[in-house]
Amino acid sequence: MIPDVVRYRQADLLSGLHRRFGPVVRVGPYTYLLGPEANQFVFAHSELFEVEAAFQSLVPVDGPTSLIVSDGEDHKRRRRFVQPALAHRQIASYVPVMRANAEATIDAWRPGETVDAYQEFRRAIRRSTIHALFGEELAQESDFFGAHLQVLINLIDRNPAVVKVLRTMKSPGWRNAMRARRAVDARVYKAIEETRQGKTAGDVLTSLVQGDGLSDLEVRDQIVTLIAAGYETTSGAMAWAVFNLLRHNGVWERAQQDDDYLANVVNETLRLYPPAVVSARVAAAPFEFAGKKIKQGTFLLYSPYVTHRLAEVFPDPLKFDPDRWETKPAPHEFLPFGGGPHRCVGAGLATTELTVMLKALLQRPKPELLPQRLTPTGLAAMRPKNGLKIRAAG
Ligand code: HEM
Repeated sequence: MIPDVVRYRQADLLSGLHRRFGPVVRVGPYTYLLGPEANQFVFAHSELFEVEAAFQSLVPVDGPTSLIVSDGEDHKRRRRFVQPALAHRQIASYVPVMRANAEATIDAWRPGETVDAYQEFRRAIRRSTIHALFGEELAQESDFFGAHLQVLINLIDRNPAVVKVLRTMKSPGWRNAMRARRAVDARVYKAIEETRQGKTAGDVLTSLVQGDGLSDLEVRDQIVTLIAAGYETTSGAMAWAVFNLLRHNGVWERAQQDDDYLANVVNETLRLYPPAVVSARVAAAPFEFAGKKIKQGTFLLYSPYVTHRLAEVFPDPLKFDPDRWETKPAPHEFLPFGGGPHRCVGAGLATTELTVMLKALLQRPKPELLPQRLTPTGLAAMRPKNGLKIRAAG
């Protein structure tokens, strides 16, 4: 029997430390700032924090000028170029692509076949994100990007200290990752060149290239960041949402009939299973929080997961209850996309993609959730380690 709520041991340990020691918890080189007040503090005082040092481990994939590792004026400027394609109005135009990709995936399942819903939707999400943002031509190479980016994602999924050693020693693992990166880059630079010549037109690609304010490296870094950040996290959330639809009695049927309820299922999924279990900052200046002094340079982590499972914020927190969304929590209480100036620029796209793809699934006969052990893994994109096995309707 699969439990109705999956627990993530590593993250639950953090919740235990929070209960015992309060909002500031030091563990080895890391200082955790936990709970709603801590989140509010981090989001409201961006001048005290920097992300460049905090997300260095992402640089092998995303590049040194990625939005994720940019602070201050550089961050503002780069974000201005990326934002228009991810604005609400623009997202609506991507819906047909999202729906078509989800339907093609689901319709390829043979009746009674066992499939891994995580891997299946991950592929659909990658393809539809690339198609929506960068056009059909690059989307045709979605599997190429998937294969090469996976080598890089596997590298950064490891402990940053290990990655540093691999890099210094130029180990075979590191060299392999750099080969993958060169393959990705060659394709991305070709797309940049073609866009400059007016040959292709994907929304973001065009605004990044024609903006005339970004170097080729900056354009490359934003493209790879949007692709990688776009599908890795969203596919984790999709797997947990499918799990919730199938695991709880009556939820599938209600979601089939009521779009508002489906939106609540998505929110409740992002509450219990926020793919970003933690997010990072480095203290740019010394400060005091909750009576504790934090030194400049301290590596800090805040945690959507810990906050989302607090009984003070969400009564009966381990209960999967889409109806709790009749009242809306504050931004520092529900933060699957972080907050402040670095709040996820793809939040609207991700929520729409999840909703559209779940709706496509709900319009087909109900699959069966197979008995399995669901073990969460990953701190930046929590997902079920061995996927999510379902049996397609017979
Ligand atoms: C369910 C899916 C997603 C989740 C849970 C998620 C979560 C997050 C979180 C927690 C942050 C860091 C915020 C902070 O620390 O303040 C972030 C940043 C970011 N995300 Fe997402 N994300 C998702 C989907 C996407 C998508 C679809 C895209 C793009 C297509 C995207 C692109 C980015 C970028 C570029 C940043 C850096 C923003 C900045 O620093 O200004 N994400 N995301």
